[in-house]
Amino acid sequence: MTTPKRVRVHHLREAKDRGERLTMLTAYDAVTARIFDEAGVDMLLVGDSIGNTMHGDATTLPVTLDEIVVAARSVARGAQRAFVVADLPFGTYEAGPEQALASAVRVMKETGVSAVKFEGGRRVVPQIRALTEAGIPVVAHLGYTPQSENLLGGPRVQGRGDEAAEALSADAVAVAEAGAVAVVLEMVPAPVAARVTEIVQIPTIGIGAGAECDGQVLVWVDMAGMTDWSPRFAKRFGEVGAALRAAASSYVEEVRGGTFPDAAHQFDA
Ligand code: KIV
Repeated sequence: MTTPKRVRVHHLREAKDRGERLTMLTAYDAVTARIFDEAGVDMLLVGDSIGNTMHGDATTLPVTLDEIVVAARSVARGAQRAFVVADLPFGTYEAGPEQALASAVRVMKETGVSAVKFEGGRRVVPQIRALTEAGIPVVAHLGYTPQSENLLGGPRVQGRGDEAAEALSADAVAVAEAGAVAVVLEMVPAPVAARVTEIVQIPTIGIGAGAECDGQVLVWVDMAGMTDWSPRFAKRFGEVGAALRAAASSYVEEVRGGTFPDAAHQFDA
């Protein structure tokens, strides 16, 4: 994507129209947000994946709106250029447009992000419409939707087979018509994601959805190699976990050995 000072909602559509790939990473704090922003990442997602990546939970389900608000405020402070999106966590929008609007208004008022994201297709169209009418950009999320992992039977590819692919396409068209500004496609067969990308005018942001999406998103700890295991679709672009462990080991060694702090890291009388 070309470099606006601040990525705004119209730049997303313009990038799709020009065939420029969008880049998105999750971020949960100001330190990493600043690093990713400086690296030129177009969009930062304060994902409810904060639950399983940062809080040590097994799933995203326990994440609360309070937790997202704190993380989203930090990320918005850390990012100068990126378009920052905050997830609405499980239980904060499904009841209907009023609940979704109340949650989204709180996020927008208290954090400084540019948009919210929540999961679902046709079933959340009234919520997308209500937020859009209130001036809040919505990013939709289709395919594997982790908040429904109990119903879906865990992380499994969605949209396989003609019927499922048709349903996914219909969901994508519906969220776009309702006003969504972009749609995340998670764990969707590449040809299905390519077809969705062709038929909707809003950018598709893929995660495990092939190369034909308008953009890509990864959970940053997977992208940076922070953990021993990462999902098949998530390439490790670094081994930051190993580098951090090595730095911490050197620190332990030097403190124990009495070589830190040295003259350069202490104050004279
Ligand atoms: O919460 C999250 O990190 C997400 C991505 C997987 C898209 O929703």
